[in-house]
Amino acid sequence: MKPSIAVSVALYRRHERELMALIARYGLAFTVAEGESVGFGGHTYLLEEGFTLKTHLTLPHRTSERLTLLFHTLEEAFGFIASHPDPQSEYPALIETYGKMLREGELVAFPTETVYGLGADATNEDAVRAIFIAKERPLFDPLIVHVAQVGQLEEVVATLDERTLSLIDHFWPGPLTLVVKKHPTIPAVVTSGGGTVAIRMPDNPLALSLIEESRRPIAAPSANRFGYTSPTTAAHVHEQLGDRIAAILDGGSCPVGIESTVLSLVTDPPTILRPGKIGEEELVPIIGQVSSPSTVHDSVLESPGLLENHYAPTTALYLVDDVSQYKDDPTVGVLLFERSAVAFKGPVRYISEKEDAAEAASRLYWAMRQLDTLNLRMMVCSLMKEEGIGVAINNRLRKASRKR
Ligand code: TXA
Ligand code: MG
Repeated sequence: MKPSIAVSVALYRRHERELMALIARYGLAFTVAEGESVGFGGHTYLLEEGFTLKTHLTLPHRTSERLTLLFHTLEEAFGFIASHPDPQSEYPALIETYGKMLREGELVAFPTETVYGLGADATNEDAVRAIFIAKERPLFDPLIVHVAQVGQLEEVVATLDERTLSLIDHFWPGPLTLVVKKHPTIPAVVTSGGGTVAIRMPDNPLALSLIEESRRPIAAPSANRFGYTSPTTAAHVHEQLGDRIAAILDGGSCPVGIESTVLSLVTDPPTILRPGKIGEEELVPIIGQVSSPSTVHDSVLESPGLLENHYAPTTALYLVDDVSQYKDDPTVGVLLFERSAVAFKGPVRYISEKEDAAEAASRLYWAMRQLDTLNLRMMVCSLMKEEGIGVAINNRLRKASRKR
C-alpha cells in the first residue's frame, strides 16, 4: 500500500520545490489542505510546518487517536512516511509485539518527549543487566524507572508523600524525574545498590502505550552508548545500538530534545541533580525552596552517576564568546542559535534562528551529530542566556565541550 498525504498550505508555500521533489521521489498521492486547522481528508498523513506529521492511530490503552510526530527536516519526515505506509494497522501491532518482548526480558528502544530510551523490565534483574551491557555503562550509574500510570509506582517506591504527589500531579506525564526511596522488591541493579530510585512518566503516547502493554515498570536510560550524545531519532539509536537490542520503536524526533530534569526528593531542600526543561522557576511554586545548579557548585552535582553526561560528540566542541572569529576556517563547524549575517566558510547548523531556547534544545543533539559526520577539525558554539531551558542547554554544552 502507498500512503497518501495532505500538506498544509503554509508548508506548501514555504517549501514547494523541495516538497514536490520528495513527493515525486516517493511516488506519493498528495493534496494541499486548506484552512488553519485542517483535516486529513481521508489521507494517511497530514504534514505541517514544523515539521510535524499527524496521523490517526488507535493505540492500545489510549483514548487519544491523533498522533503528532516531529521531524528536523522534510527529508526525515518523508523517510518516515516511506517506511511506515500504513501506520494505522502497523503501530497497534508493533506495540503488542514490543510490549510482549519487554515482558519477556528483551531490550526495546522507544521514543519519549525528551530523548529515546532503552527499555527493559525493571523487575527483571537479567533484563536490566542487559541494558548495562548493551550501553557499555558502568553498573554504578543508576537507571530511571518509567511508568504509564501512577498506580504502577506501588511496586517501585517505598512511599509517596504529599510533596511527591503534588509534583506528579503538576508535571506528569512530562520531563521531570523524581528521586525517592525505593521499594524493596526493585532489583539493586536498577538503583546501583542505593536505597533511592528515580521515577518518571514520559509524555509520549507511544511510550505510554508500550509501557502499559508490557504491564511492567520499565527501566530506561538514554538509548546511546555510554558517554555519547543522547539519541533524538530512531536512526540515532540504530547507529549505536541497532545490532545489540531486540527492537526500536520509531516515533520521529523528540520534541524536548534534552534529557529530563532530575530532582532529588531525599535531600532537604530537594536538589536539582540534572537541569532540564522543567526549571527551578517552575518547581519553587509547587514545593518551595530547591537547590539548583545555580546555587550549588557543579562538582557537588557529579554524584552518583551524573558522570555519564559527557554528551560528547566525536569532533571536539569548544565554547567561545564570539563564533565569528572562526568564520574564515572551513574546517570549523558552527552551531548558532540566532540568525547571523556573518559568512562562515565552514558548515553552519542553526539550532534556532531566533534565540528560542525550546527550539534550540529540540535541535541541539541532532545538530551536533550532523556536524560530527563531516570530519571537521572542531566545532564551536557560544552559551545561551542562563535562564529557563537555557540553563539545561548550557549544562549539556559544557559537558560536551573540551576544556581549553
Ligand atoms: O529524559 C530522560 O530522563 C531519559 C529518557 C529516556 O527518559 N533518560 C535518561 O536516562 O536520560 P539516563 O540513564 O541517561 O540518565 C539518568 C540520570 C543519570 O545521570 C543517573 O545517574 C541519574 O539519572 N539517576 C538515576 N537514578 C538515580 C538515583 N537513584 N539517584 C540519583 N540519580 C539517579
Ligand atoms: Mg544518558
